Amino acid sequence: MEIGGVLFTEADIRSRVAALAEEVDEHYAGESCTVVSVLKGGCLFTADLIRRLTMPLYLSFAAVSSYRSGTTGGNPRIEFFPTDHEIRGRRVLVVDDILDTGRTLAFLRDVLVEAGVKEFKTCVLLDKPSRRITDFQADFRGFEVPDVFVAGYGLDYAGRYRNLPDIVGMRPGISPQ
Ligand code: XMP
Repeated sequence: MEIGGVLFTEADIRSRVAALAEEVDEHYAGESCTVVSVLKGGCLFTADLIRRLTMPLYLSFAAVSSYRSGTTGGNPRIEFFPTDHEIRGRRVLVVDDILDTGRTLAFLRDVLVEAGVKEFKTCVLLDKPSRRITDFQADFRGFEVPDVFVAGYGLDYAGRYRNLPDIVGMRPGISPQ
């Protein structure tokens, strides 16, 4: 795969993140929450989003991996999880780069609800509804994207391109070195 066209420029992202932060701020209305940033892809978006939020917040991280067997979808597995005191009885906002099939966030929701969160909300920068295999919907979302593999602004292709300031579509071609 190689880089195709730019889908969202740095400026597009900046203004959409600002608008999203206003929506999120309005929801929390000054009440505290724990932001759980989903590693690795969600970290750049989280860093930009939380600097525009005004309620008191705790910052935590989660990482989920999928192990695939044959052609069936992989079972999500927790690799890293917030500590109990960061989430139990708290309002929790999970921030991720992209909502694709919905398996990752549906899994995280189940685990966080089981861990005793008071409220579970999600904020994703990108939403690819055409790929959804669960009924999961994000509470806050930045842009809808078509069914193309995207990279940049935290999102990777084969471990690369997370540092691109724009979000680009990948297209079949040469592999990254
Ligand atoms: P699911 O399918 O569980 O996927 O909603 C969520 C995770 O899958 C990764 N993902 C992508 N990463 N470009 C990427 O760089 C993409 O187009 C893409 N689609 C899914 C991502 O890690 C996301 O958190």
